[in-house]
Amino acid sequence: MINIAILGLGTVGGGVAEVIEKNQLEIKKVLGEDLHVKYILDIRDLPGVVKDINTIINDPDIKVVCETMGGKEPAYTYTHLALEHGISVCTSNKELVDAHGVELSAIARDHHCSYLFEASVGGGIPLLRTIREACGHEKISKIAGILNGTCNYILTNMKAGRDFADVLKEAQEKGFAERNPAADVEGHDTARKIAILASMVSGKKFSYEQVSCEGITNITPEDFAEAEAKGMSIKLLGVYDAENNSVLVAPHLIPKEHALYNVNGVFNGILIHGNMVDDLMFYGRGAGKLPTASAVVSDVIECAKNIGKNINNNFADLEPANVNKAPEKPQGQKFRVLDS
Ligand code: HSE
Repeated sequence: MINIAILGLGTVGGGVAEVIEKNQLEIKKVLGEDLHVKYILDIRDLPGVVKDINTIINDPDIKVVCETMGGKEPAYTYTHLALEHGISVCTSNKELVDAHGVELSAIARDHHCSYLFEASVGGGIPLLRTIREACGHEKISKIAGILNGTCNYILTNMKAGRDFADVLKEAQEKGFAERNPAADVEGHDTARKIAILASMVSGKKFSYEQVSCEGITNITPEDFAEAEAKGMSIKLLGVYDAENNSVLVAPHLIPKEHALYNVNGVFNGILIHGNMVDDLMFYGRGAGKLPTASAVVSDVIECAKNIGKNINNNFADLEPANVNKAPEKPQGQKFRVLDS
């Protein structure tokens, strides 16, 4: 039996417990043994939770922890401690991966364990593992992605005539939005995700502060009417351009014939161009309890199959990228158009 702990019983942490309980037979089939949640840590007075991280890291039974707390602290300190004890950490915490992922990945490597963060980008889509394993031999020249489920949910519903504030409230109730939804609607969450993707494929560390970032708060009903008249939709995209070495987050016009046009609601769609494979398109739920938790559990299983070894996550020892400014919008235009 593999024993794990969940740090933070919020939307994603609760989802991890649920996925492990509901799919225990499937997990046993792929892992070869049972997966058991021995501890749940939370700051709240909930029945059965522990509050002291030392209880977890000093228990030799614990091989993997899921960090589903979000934010920088105490997530950083707890992750650091776990990795130093040779305990692998699987997370959905894109803020921490962006800010400290390089350092934490090196600690994992030096302590023969792993730091994996599949759930930090693209919700339930098995994107990072595919990039690492199936596309490692490709030269990736471009990534264009709808990477924030909340924004796409809002934009899809605004297109249908609904009000921004009402739809944002609905996205919060459904567990899609960040604790502070400004991170979603101002584009910062997308910026962290495109920075993580750019880092994974380029071999240089792009950070969220280097992303030229515009959110969705200035988009009006008139903009949707104009876009529709031109046969286009409006989507918030994160774009990495290897040739220009730039990363950008901004609302784009998407032509009807483009693969990303029909990515609606909470779904994410990510287009990746490789020099040999050409275009790849990934599609799935970009936010929400069970899809995100499913991605965390996929990492837990990979770590549990590799106890005592480090899984290369393409992040350890990355040097900072020298990022160029992203191209400006065409003169007099409110939006860029996604061309290819
Ligand atoms: N708030 C994020 C989103 C959660 O809406 O995409 C998943 O990262």
